[in-house]
Amino acid sequence: MNQDELKALVGKAALAHVVEGSIVGVGTGSTVNCFIDALATIKGRIKGAVSSSERSTERLRLHGIHVFEAGEVEHLPVYIDGADEIDHRGHMIKGGGAALTREKIVADLAERFVCIADESKLVQVLGRFPLPVEVIPMALPQVARRFAALGGQARVRAGVVTDNGQAILDVAGLSITDPLAMEQEVNQWPGVVSVGIFARHRARVCLLGTAQGVKTLTF
Ligand code: 5RP
Repeated sequence: MNQDELKALVGKAALAHVVEGSIVGVGTGSTVNCFIDALATIKGRIKGAVSSSERSTERLRLHGIHVFEAGEVEHLPVYIDGADEIDHRGHMIKGGGAALTREKIVADLAERFVCIADESKLVQVLGRFPLPVEVIPMALPQVARRFAALGGQARVRAGVVTDNGQAILDVAGLSITDPLAMEQEVNQWPGVVSVGIFARHRARVCLLGTAQGVKTLTF
């Protein structure tokens, strides 16, 4: 099976985690696009969705799925999203699609984060994938210097403006052995909107697409 087939497989498998009659938290990315397409087949059995990006909102609406604003909702039973990396404790790097801040906001409303990913995303230590960080543009050099002091090389993602009107720094060369501590530290830096480490909002379940089928990891 190729990567696209694995994404389609886990996108469908995630339907088993959708709570009947509920509003579903929906992430962003190519794996989530497969999930959204699968969700359309059971749209009569959910109230709607809260979306983490303009792109996902558009796809949900094209399928006729009602999209609620995050502010209209107090609690979601489940949030389903992809990841750029996930470790064996459910910590993730996210933001490859530049949607990390809204993803964290919607994940924060949810009881359970269900991660859908192909097996290439499973790692021992986070950091091989450059860490995305959403930053207010005037603070970019300052935040980049702070990462340099930690051994990271930060680059502004060219031509990208987030749904929130901000910039993305991609930071290579980090080995994130304590994801929670690093998430808390970077969140304190002035100008950082959010960091793509999902440790406080880690996954509780990961549906991993493998050549042998879907493997369920629980954390
Ligand atoms: C978007 C994300 C995505 O979940 C992550 O980039 C994975 O994307 P894909 O499913 O396309 O591999 O964090 O901001």
